Amino acid sequence: MRVLLLSGSARIPSHTRSLIDAVAAELGRLGAETVTWDLASDPLPDALADFHRAPETIEHPETRRFIREVARADAFVWGSPNYHNSYSARLKNALDTVNYDHFEQKPIGLVTHSGGLVSTQAVDHLRIVARGLLGVAIPTQIASCDADFTQEPDGTYTIAAPALQCRIVRFCAELTKMATLLSGGGVS
Ligand SMILES: Cc1cc2nc3c(=O)[nH]c(=O)nc-3n(C[C@H](O)[C@H](O)[C@H](O)COP(=O)(O)O)c2cc1C
Repeated sequence: MRVLLLSGSARIPSHTRSLIDAVAAELGRLGAETVTWDLASDPLPDALADFHRAPETIEHPETRRFIREVARADAFVWGSPNYHNSYSARLKNALDTVNYDHFEQKPIGLVTHSGGLVSTQAVDHLRIVARGLLGVAIPTQIASCDADFTQEPDGTYTIAAPALQCRIVRFCAELTKMATLLSGGGVS
């Protein structure tokens, strides 16, 4: 099982990226192969509407690489900071680069981080986007705030809240189970 994780922050270091890394580590423990695309370090050019029906014909090399990674994935994790009560423009632009052929009947796990207070606004909005792409957003989601992390001397963030770690374990178990079910593998 191959999982593509998207980190939609525009900042390095990023809490969202730390969540994505923790989710990737747990998915790896469960036996999944993971690929992380960080839209802060690897931003994509503006999505072009002319390529909506045939994104694979886009010539930009970074966009082509992104589309290839999306096409190869069996499941997805979309991560975004809360920007103005919703998800980030970087993440939306990345999703607008592909189309529903890439997501139909595939599970999507939703992850978000806000500054002062936990908020589900970004993942609530992403759930509607997942439906638009014919993907299956899993029920368990992850939402954190700054107090759930400690900052390391190099500036990166480490999860400090045990409840958040527990949530990541549950989230990953559900995502891999849904991927198996949706690929016709039945219930284990
Ligand atoms: C453009 C922008 C808009 C933001 N809007 C909100 C907001 O509406 N609510 C909120 O709680 N935090 C908001 N924030 C704060 C971010 O959610 C917070 O800085 C968070 O740590 C960013 O995640 P990151 O570390 O993964 O980049 C905003 C930050 C930016 C840059």
